[in-house]
Amino acid sequence: MKLTIIGSGYVGLTTGACFAEAGHHVMCVDNDPRKIQTLLDGNIPIYEPGLATLVKKNVVSKRLQFTTSTEDGVNYGEVIFIAVPTPPQPDGSVDLSYIEKVAREIAVCLDSYRVIVDKSTVPVKTGERVSQTIRRYAKAGVEFDVVSNPEFLREGSAVDDLMHPDRIVIGGNSDRALAVMQKVYEPFVAPVLVTDINSAELIKHAANSFLALKISYINALSEICEISGADVEKVAEGIGMDKRIGRSFLNAGLGYGGSCFPKDISAFIAIAEQLGAPLNLLKEVEKINAHQLNRFLQGIREALWVLKDKKLAVWGISFKPNTDDVRSSVAVNLIEALVAEGAKVTAFDPKGMEKFKELPLAGKVTLTESALEAARDAEALIVATEWPEFATVDLAELRDVMRTPLIFDGRNLLDPEAAASHGFQYRGIGRGT
Ligand code: UGA
Repeated sequence: MKLTIIGSGYVGLTTGACFAEAGHHVMCVDNDPRKIQTLLDGNIPIYEPGLATLVKKNVVSKRLQFTTSTEDGVNYGEVIFIAVPTPPQPDGSVDLSYIEKVAREIAVCLDSYRVIVDKSTVPVKTGERVSQTIRRYAKAGVEFDVVSNPEFLREGSAVDDLMHPDRIVIGGNSDRALAVMQKVYEPFVAPVLVTDINSAELIKHAANSFLALKISYINALSEICEISGADVEKVAEGIGMDKRIGRSFLNAGLGYGGSCFPKDISAFIAIAEQLGAPLNLLKEVEKINAHQLNRFLQGIREALWVLKDKKLAVWGISFKPNTDDVRSSVAVNLIEALVAEGAKVTAFDPKGMEKFKELPLAGKVTLTESALEAARDAEALIVATEWPEFATVDLAELRDVMRTPLIFDGRNLLDPEAAASHGFQYRGIGRGT
């Protein structure tokens, strides 16, 4: 099939590459000429395992192409996916101006039947609005259908998530469009759930909120564990062995971050409020998430007393391992708080430093070439992101380079007993001091 993706960001580019890999012919559109040029030059603007190889391979086989022209895109694909950003507004609700603009742009180029698919995470009832907008701006009589097909990929494992999804959700109100969408997903082996448009839209916000709820639940328990002397790792293992609960997304830490959860949870709160059915449960989730970082910082202050002029090492800047994405990263918030108190922060991240350098905060932080180098002469080491390579750093060497042997492990990555046996004072999340 010929498919068009409008918006070649994280979701659009990965979806485009994976559709091409599955055998479709794909045109990716973006209004940023620099991004399209980067892609045409054979480079990709993000770090995502396996994506660069996939893009190159499918460009060579001519199944994947890039353009800045929406008109070319609309003429090309029988299905047009909208994968543009839906950023938060100051009050937490979603800014839908990119979606609305693309809907208008598609509308004026339409001259025969197309299926227009919302891939971006959007509030329930957005599909109805997109449909009305296209109808308003399109030539009289032109046929189209709007479908909601939310994306569930995780950064860091996006290619695998797309090629082998847990489920495919297709929300549509027309049999003709649903038949086209079934064809799009024919090459993928995954259960397909067909719903109405509103339900599909709701599923995405509800799923992300549930996952954030799960993380926040274990984070709230981590505080109780610290006070009572229990071990949150054991508690997570014990409750996670119940199949109805499951062990995943029960890792206590500094809280969730990234470009999805913080934005989607506040969006869902705003959506529920607008619909007249407030979800106060999610307000508590946001509170727990903020509290988790605050009490971690408080622990650092209590141990070090004054932070001003102290050299502190931070391992990890990206919002989670296997990505270079630093958007809404809790590690960045942590560094910001330490810098604000006058600490001299030295940081290292395997992939996130280039994107971090684009932030004004980077000017106030010393970045190093390795994890060990960041820890040199430090009065404490803070683990902010659980990159696997940090867990294999030689603790004896680490002990040698640091000024004082103190570790604050915000992701429970290191082994507390091994750290203690190397003379470190170790403090994790929810597992004692
Ligand atoms: C999330 C969802 O997992 C995807 O299914 C969804 O498609 C995506 O948002 C989206 O809406 O586009 P992502 O933001 O890439 O994916 O990352 P996650 O792996 O879900 O992690 C989010 C945050 O939660 C990270 O900061 C991570 O460190 C934190 N986390 C995750 C925990 O603190 N504990 C856990 O047990 C799991």
